[in-house]
Amino acid sequence: MKRLTNKRILLGVSGSIAAYKAPDIVRRLQDLGAEVRVVLTQGGAKFITELSLQATSKNKVHDNLWDKEAELAMGHIELAKWADAILVAPASANTLANLSAGKASDLLSNVVLASDAPVLIAPAMNQKMYGSLAVKDNLSILQERNIKFISPEYGEQACGDIGEGRLADPGEIAKQVSEIFSSTKLTGKKVLITLGATIEAIDPVRYLSNHSSGKMGMALARACIEAGAQVTLIHGDVSIPLSNKSNNISANSASEMHQAVMENIGNQDVFIACAAVSDYRVKNIEKNKIKKENKTLTLELIPNKDILADVCKLNHKPICIGFAAETQNLIENAQNKLKNKGCDAIILNDVSRADFGFKMNDNEVVFLTQKSSLKIQKNSKQKIGRKIVEIIIEKFL
Ligand code: PMT
Repeated sequence: MKRLTNKRILLGVSGSIAAYKAPDIVRRLQDLGAEVRVVLTQGGAKFITELSLQATSKNKVHDNLWDKEAELAMGHIELAKWADAILVAPASANTLANLSAGKASDLLSNVVLASDAPVLIAPAMNQKMYGSLAVKDNLSILQERNIKFISPEYGEQACGDIGEGRLADPGEIAKQVSEIFSSTKLTGKKVLITLGATIEAIDPVRYLSNHSSGKMGMALARACIEAGAQVTLIHGDVSIPLSNKSNNISANSASEMHQAVMENIGNQDVFIACAAVSDYRVKNIEKNKIKKENKTLTLELIPNKDILADVCKLNHKPICIGFAAETQNLIENAQNKLKNKGCDAIILNDVSRADFGFKMNDNEVVFLTQKSSLKIQKNSKQKIGRKIVEIIIEKFL
């Protein structure tokens, strides 16, 4: 399989003499299996025609933020959602300034702002301009935002100067784009992830729930999608946006989540139970709001079905990975869950900590199987998610 098979790359071409190399970049990306769409800035159009980019990309070129027809067909938000990665090559000094300032002045800058896809920039300009403090500052701002930078080459320039600022080789640019999708190890695999907090109604107004934000589950989902998996998310209450590259199914209560998981588990290869599921629900949910009275109120709670344990009991069970949210006797409690629920691995996190766990952007976990224990030190949930997915692939697939 080619490294960019099924990947959708949006190429932004801005005003640099190197724009004449854009059709070659399109071809190199296509050679690696990508589908390419081009956004051409006004400056870019001074150096390369829309027609040559349309002919090579085999798609209509997008060049106008205010084009009513284009908005009806594929407007800036659709383009932003469509892209698996955005490559700006060549990136002129003006485009770098627009992007670093977060401007929404043309179609390309709008698409970059509206997308959560990774962005790569390949600058190309005169060596003096490239060496200027303003351009260097803009580049470092963009790199701090995790925008990947493809260094220009040193050599003779179109203007006759010699120095750093020539657009990187199109083959090298395409290679660097493919490297951001470094793993295709889950291509063809199906992964079902539960995430977020379940909600157990008390009456039409009140409910029992917990602190899960869905961040850990979404980090795992992104890591699986990056590795090429087809992902289904069954989510309770979450406080972050879900991916638009997964099949997202909403389930409020533990019972609804149990039902949604059982209906969708059939042909899954991996099940990751990251949701914080309520162990109990209210036995009798009041039809009307419970009135305040000056006496003790007792709620009778009954146990919910255990989703993870039930998936582990299936005849053709997928690889089952659970989480253990613990506050004491961490390892012992997690090992008991691993055994009692019958899963292949359990990921322990200490949810009593103030600096990671529930709601936070960071986590620290221990990946436990019957035979092994591997600590993943405190890091962003995104990085922890990637590491967990790597271990799952290494150990089970
Ligand atoms: O969402 P965040 O804010 O990013 O926080 C992440 C997290 C702390 C919620 C997450 O990392 C985590 O630990 N998720 C599991 C929370 C939990 O319910 O743990 P537990 O120890 O109570 O349950 C053990 C396992 O059984 C879990 O995989 C859980 O999904 C599953 N379970 C529990 C009860 C139930 N009825 N059905 C289940 O499937």
